[in-house]
Amino acid sequence: MKILVIHGPNLNQLGKRDPHFYGVKTLEEINSLLDSEAESLGIDIAVFQSNNEGEIVSFIQEETPNARGIIINPAALTHYGLSLREALADTRIPIIEVHLSNIYARPEPWRHTSVIAPVATGQVSGLGWKGYVIALNYLVQQEQERRG
Ligand code: DQA
Repeated sequence: MKILVIHGPNLNQLGKRDPHFYGVKTLEEINSLLDSEAESLGIDIAVFQSNNEGEIVSFIQEETPNARGIIINPAALTHYGLSLREALADTRIPIIEVHLSNIYARPEPWRHTSVIAPVATGQVSGLGWKGYVIALNYLVQQEQERRG
């Protein structure tokens, strides 16, 4: 079983971005925690980060046929990424949208709207890096229940 983990624009800068919202871990540290979690769950993950919406769309198109779920932090694309939304909608596999910060509690009104949420199975927002781990466990459990 393979789960895709996708990080959107600027998340390669984690560790340098405002720690109050995004924590102190780098993306490499978060990915390595996810690798360990995946290993203990006995599943594979394919991790991808890009600052480019088109590259993320292509990754989703190429990798989805072999995947059972998607965990995505769309970063700023959350708020306007309509080609990303359509690529995700076309996958027809479970999608968990993750945000390190609670986008609804942020001061900028534009952060309060997600164009991705309507095509996601669910959203985890504000739990920091643990949100990714929670999303991974959820997807694995759902798949196990589905298989019986
Ligand atoms: C983010 C929230 C977005 O509003 C922002 O553009 C990001 C990160 C988060 O993880 O909290 O880059 O998705």
